[in-house]
Amino acid sequence: METIFDLRNVSYTYLGKFEALREIDLKIGRGEQVAIMGANGSGKSTLLSILNALIYPTSGEFYAFGNLVTEDAFDTLQAGEFNRYFRRKTGFVFQNPDVQMFSSTVYDEIAFGPLQLDLPGEEVKRRVDDVIKMIGIEKLRDRAPHTLSGGEKKKVCIASVLASSPDVLLLDEPTAGLDPRTQLWLIELLHELGHAGKTIVTATHDLDAVEHISERAIVMGEDHRIRVDTRSSVVVNDLDLLLSTNLIHKHMHRHGAITHHHIHSHEGEHQHGHNGPEGERMP
Ligand SMILES: Nc1ncnc2c1ncn2[C@@H]1O[C@H](COP(=O)(O)OP(=O)(O)O)[C@@H](O)[C@H]1O
Ligand SMILES: [Mg+2]
Repeated sequence: METIFDLRNVSYTYLGKFEALREIDLKIGRGEQVAIMGANGSGKSTLLSILNALIYPTSGEFYAFGNLVTEDAFDTLQAGEFNRYFRRKTGFVFQNPDVQMFSSTVYDEIAFGPLQLDLPGEEVKRRVDDVIKMIGIEKLRDRAPHTLSGGEKKKVCIASVLASSPDVLLLDEPTAGLDPRTQLWLIELLHELGHAGKTIVTATHDLDAVEHISERAIVMGEDHRIRVDTRSSVVVNDLDLLLSTNLIHKHMHRHGAITHHHIHSHEGEHQHGHNGPEGERMP
């Protein structure tokens, strides 16, 4: 399998003092679907930002598509070609859709990427129409993005990224804040895109989604190191790992396909279902 991302001993520190990633060694191959898991603050978003060359390692090296990625490599004129290649190849869906949208209509927002690719007008229109239909947002076509609901904005961001047809998709907690039906829709979409051969890296702590959208899971510890890098099915069934990485709380147990929330009033005594949803089915 061709390696497209290769991080070698990468550390990242914000402002010289806030550590976010520590000594990360990680290779991602073309066509892989990988979940990046870990508690809040463990470094998931920082890792995605490095993969998308939005920030550069404080130390260590990041190679993408066989090239060493540095700030200089992106800023110098000679690097323009690699920069264009990289931007064509990858698409990033941010956690907060507001930072991603700037056009006055949904249609223009989605057309922006394809227009950047210098495609003929007819082809741009065809791509935008196709993706609007695929995502099912025909009704939103002429709306102003800032007037949409959170879930609608998320759909438009996903549509924008897909319209450029990148080989690599990077998504930061894509299901967070979506209603259950939209979450399920997105999980199925990512599943299909994976089957179609896209490389997909998804930061998530949605345990129910992980196995559906990725074969492989990387769990970040609260010390900003990779704790494990293994099959998703192994991670979601490793209770000790999930507890120790703060992906579940000890008052919440998972039993196969069903999540039970047990409210423990006293040690050894279980009250079921008084203070929360119980027996929620997985999508
Ligand atoms: N812009 C920033 N300035 C300073 N510290 C930051 C910034 N962004 C993130 N951090 C810190 O870096 C660490 C990793 O954050 P992040 O990558 O956002 O984690 P996650 O996405 O897993 O929640 C956290 O301790 C966080 O406080
Ligand atoms: Mg994050």
